[in-house]
Amino acid sequence: MNMVNTQVRLAARPVGLPGDGDWTVTEERLPALETGQVLVRTLYVSIDPAMRGWMRGTPSYLPPLGLGDVMRAWTIGMVEDSRNTLFAEGEIVTGMLGVQRYAVTDGRGVTKIDPAEGPVSAHLGVLGVPGLSAYIGMLDIGRPREGETVVVSAAAGAVGNVAGQLARIHGCRVIGVVGGQEKCRHVVEDLGFDAAVDRRTEDVAEALRRHAPQGVDVYFDNVGGEVLDAAVRSLARGGRVVLCGAVSQYNSENGVGGLPGYISLLINRARMEGFLVFDHADRYPEARARLREWVKEGSLKVVEDVVPGRVVDFPRLLLRQFDGGNTGKLLLRVED
Ligand SMILES: NC(=O)c1ccc[n+]([C@@H]2O[C@H](COP(=O)([O-])OP(=O)(O)OC[C@H]3O[C@@H](n4cnc5c(N)ncnc54)[C@H](OP(=O)(O)O)[C@@H]3O)[C@@H](O)[C@H]2O)c1
Repeated sequence: MNMVNTQVRLAARPVGLPGDGDWTVTEERLPALETGQVLVRTLYVSIDPAMRGWMRGTPSYLPPLGLGDVMRAWTIGMVEDSRNTLFAEGEIVTGMLGVQRYAVTDGRGVTKIDPAEGPVSAHLGVLGVPGLSAYIGMLDIGRPREGETVVVSAAAGAVGNVAGQLARIHGCRVIGVVGGQEKCRHVVEDLGFDAAVDRRTEDVAEALRRHAPQGVDVYFDNVGGEVLDAAVRSLARGGRVVLCGAVSQYNSENGVGGLPGYISLLINRARMEGFLVFDHADRYPEARARLREWVKEGSLKVVEDVVPGRVVDFPRLLLRQFDGGNTGKLLLRVED
């Protein structure tokens, strides 16, 4: 094949925020397809906080990336060529195909997307891992009841915006914790939250006491650290804390911080539970069907932060979600 692939590879284990020296970009000629293989041209690369964890040398729920490996990423792409009977040229697919211009795959773990059903990018956002995490975390783990008070952190982000909107759809009072005044405005005015707290300028514990004087029934945690501690201290009796992620801790070299306010769990007979969306694959069909329905009827707004660029722009974009620069699902739309 006479086509050149551009690939972003992990060159070093980052210390703190990933920097330029942690990446290499390679260009290599694509090999001829073997029987069973599919050539996919990347259209979108999903940028996820979890990527920082994959770059560490320690195993978590996925094996660590090796030095020199193509950076792992969920992508959407178009089949350019196929020697696999299950895939045809021109089809749109999604899978963990990595930060590269083209991927050669045997099709395992790759699923087709029907572009007639709506914008394909939704399969990395509201219908993909973030939306499914919000659905399972909020509805199955947090189980909010009508009239309850729900707090969501990183509430303007990919998972958080859906989690908060789902609580609103279920008749809850929803408070978003976000970074910055514009995001406060966004979650209240655009997404219909009842209140917002700016974690950058406000004392989060004090603001939660003010916005939720009867206490917080469900706290959906995307960030960990001080915001988690403030929310745990603000729980109502029988409160539920859903541990979805801990983005404030991902670049820390000193381990994950403690939870000085944890005694509130005992005093309030509260529960704290972590989950991994991949353990709940049996719930995906129901979750996708209901998310789709809410989007269609207009009660669930889709918020995407789509940045056009090339795969070599990935390292710069990865940093954006660690400084709160994204609103909604952060995606790199790969353009030639
Ligand atoms: N459990 C699962 O199965 C599962 C699946 C998918 C994702 N997750 C987790 O869900 C969380 C959200 O992921 P996402 O894709 O939706 O990301 P995101 O919320 O779109 O982006 C991350 C956001 O986190 C906030 N943030 C960044 N640094 C922070 C800090 N030091 N302290 C407090 N907040 C900070 C920023 O928002 P503000 O500036 O507005 O606060 C930023 O925009 C992540 O922790 C991710 O790992 C878990």
